[in-house]
Amino acid sequence: MTSQESQPPQQNRGRSLDAHLNRYAARTAGMTASEIRALFAVASRPEVVSLAGGMPNLSALPMDSLATEVARLVAEDGQVAFQYGSAQGVPELREQITEVMALEGIRAHPDDVVVTVGSQMALDTVTRIFCDPGDVVLAEAPSYVGALGSFSAYQAEVVHVAMDDDGLIPDALRAALEAVHSAGKRVKFLYTIPNFHNPAGVTMAVERRAEVLEICARHNVLVLEDNPYGLLGFDDQTYPALRSMDEENVVYLGSFSKTFAPGLRVGWALAPHAVREKLVLASESATLCPPTFNQLLVSRYLATHDWQGQVKTYREVYSERRDAMLSALEQYMPPGCTWTKPDGGFYVWLTVPEGVDTKAMLPRAVTQRVAYVSGTAFHGDGFGSRQMRLSFCYPTPERIHEGVRRLGTVLRDELELLATFGNVAQRPQLGSESPSPDTA
Ligand SMILES: Cc1ncc(COP(=O)(O)O)c(C=O)c1O
Repeated sequence: MTSQESQPPQQNRGRSLDAHLNRYAARTAGMTASEIRALFAVASRPEVVSLAGGMPNLSALPMDSLATEVARLVAEDGQVAFQYGSAQGVPELREQITEVMALEGIRAHPDDVVVTVGSQMALDTVTRIFCDPGDVVLAEAPSYVGALGSFSAYQAEVVHVAMDDDGLIPDALRAALEAVHSAGKRVKFLYTIPNFHNPAGVTMAVERRAEVLEICARHNVLVLEDNPYGLLGFDDQTYPALRSMDEENVVYLGSFSKTFAPGLRVGWALAPHAVREKLVLASESATLCPPTFNQLLVSRYLATHDWQGQVKTYREVYSERRDAMLSALEQYMPPGCTWTKPDGGFYVWLTVPEGVDTKAMLPRAVTQRVAYVSGTAFHGDGFGSRQMRLSFCYPTPERIHEGVRRLGTVLRDELELLATFGNVAQRPQLGSESPSPDTA
């Protein structure tokens, strides 16, 4: 028996953990659990109204006809569906994807489409092929937490660019580019979510789009356009994609997660020809190929179902929930709060009065049975503590109303304590019996 084997198992485990920590690559330091993931365990308790998660509402999906479609796929095409496929994705699906993108003005060739495991994988792959440690990525403030996770995993530095109700501010983009250049750093791309932004709920004004593209082209900065919500505009309006205005300098990301089903994990990247080749090589090294079965199912769904009718149904469901959230906010928010009024998508961005720290307040909100995501999760630079993201996609309108009512109470209590004792973040946490969402 070796001396190590003779040690108590608990001690051995501690030792091997230390050994692993010493072996990890430096880049893993940037891989930490997002605030959203940490929150899931607490927020998913049934008594908590979760305005935190961004899960699509699938109750409107036609499950019976999907079951028939799955059975047909197995019976008619099983040999292909259960087999490895092309690294770039199934050709007929890539063709159909070009038709989906045409709805937002994009003209593209199926050869330039790369199917990915959700658009999250496309985000990861694009970052992998473009970013060396220390390269700068420009991103809106706030920005999608999953993208920030990818940027951090590749040790890119995120520089945020301010937005207003019309999306990214072109002057702020110019200023950010100049500041980064004069610091001697290299900007690799601008990451933007132009439509129904996650988490801000705003849409980039059409007049700004050409200006943003022109600024990026002049500074030789690629644009990474992430557009999972573009077809979910509540007044049935779509906006011209940035890619429809510039075919050379934009990598466009799309997804079936919000318009069909996220569990299938089918998304895509549309890239200029030269970039597309590298993207395929990088995806191949990560997954060999995206799941053939899921791609064929999506392809059949697009060919045989009224998928645009289904997207319309989704729009109606989410629009009703958006209305429920906005009217509850009017009714219950204390003075000094402001919020965005989204025309589509899943999210409202709420700003609370000065002095309230939404991250510090979260355990107290969960104790009061309502959850949200603190704005700090959507910034790579620690900002956002006066903001929170509220999702209206998943809970029913009644639950949304109740959740916002509870949130109003939590905020009023917080403001009262703030008026009495000063900075809330400095004093001992109330409700400390509930687990901190950061450690749950
Ligand atoms: C802005 C944005 N980009 C990308 C994704 C990832 O989507 P997918 O399910 O296609 O990986 C999401 C998911 O919430 C998102 O909101």
